[in-house]
Amino acid sequence: MKYRIAVVKGDGIGPEVIDEATKVLDAVGERFGHTFEYTYVLAGGAAIDETGRCLPDETVDIAKASDAVLLGAVGGPKWDDLPGDERPERALLGLRKELGLFANLRPAMVFDELADASPLKPEIIDGGLDIVVVRELTGGIYFGEKGFKETEMGPAAYDVEQYSTEEIRRIAKVAFDMAMKRGKRVTSIDKANVLESSRLWRKTVAEVAADYPEVALDNMYVDNGAMQLVRNPKHFDVIVTSNIFGDILSDEASQITGSIGMLPSASLADGNFGMYEPVHGSAPDIAGTGKANPLATILSAGMMLRYTFGLKEEADAVDNAVRSFLKAGFRTFDIATGDAVPLTTAETGDKVASFI
Ligand code: IPM
Ligand code: MN
Repeated sequence: MKYRIAVVKGDGIGPEVIDEATKVLDAVGERFGHTFEYTYVLAGGAAIDETGRCLPDETVDIAKASDAVLLGAVGGPKWDDLPGDERPERALLGLRKELGLFANLRPAMVFDELADASPLKPEIIDGGLDIVVVRELTGGIYFGEKGFKETEMGPAAYDVEQYSTEEIRRIAKVAFDMAMKRGKRVTSIDKANVLESSRLWRKTVAEVAADYPEVALDNMYVDNGAMQLVRNPKHFDVIVTSNIFGDILSDEASQITGSIGMLPSASLADGNFGMYEPVHGSAPDIAGTGKANPLATILSAGMMLRYTFGLKEEADAVDNAVRSFLKAGFRTFDIATGDAVPLTTAETGDKVASFI
């Protein structure tokens, strides 16, 4: 089979980690008889430099005409002083909205080999950690009405948090379907003791839960959820939450694994279309040094094989190649401990590709 992938290398370490992910995809193609065809498109700071706009129309058109999108990272200090809607990050929001990517899956798992990387005490993460944050990605306060107005306290700015029943229902379904394939537990996180939108969220999630009698649902307020993530992370299997709470909690969840350089993500639309990117950012401080860890991007490419292309065996091959890399004692700069000699970005890609 032939698959068309729109690739955004992006900024900072983006281009370096993308090159290793395509290297591994090509190894998968060779072993299993597929062709992956890459169309490189611009978004973020690189697009601003080249075209004056963070998300050129051409990028959106090519992404829409592709089977999936693979993205490195966008942003950097060079573009930090631009106004809000011209910043590189705006390209990400634009891609999410334009491509209808409403479901963001952010797994936070601890690889056995890296158990001591977690900042939590061993007894708290004993037996491993395997959480998926299902974050709503095209609604809520990120996309609600925003603006400026006069108030009694003087000039003010506002952003509106708003969710429709349908937006909640579709993201809840994604979470319950995911739970059915995992530990059959969903924790919905909201602020229903204060927010009207959260009360609708909680009610709607409960309605969806009725269609999944095998899945246990519990609800948490976001302040408590943030605490429970470090107090008793094993409580969680699938977390479903709003755009902004998911942004915050997925960073927290990733950090308790101790290796954000290892974590992939998928942003899915209706049907199988998706955009895949590492959870980490563009890390401009190490760009060009060969120190970037490409494993999160490689694992993101694996998620693409699994969720958009439906290639289970091929996806397992990618996950297993990363596991073999770690088992053999290889490390990248961010996860090297003791006297392990870290491999560069390109050496890491070569090794993982060889394990395919
Ligand atoms: C993320 C990022 C983005 C977000 C920013 C860069 C717009 O933090 O993907 O989590 O807030 O969604
Ligand atoms: Mn974030």
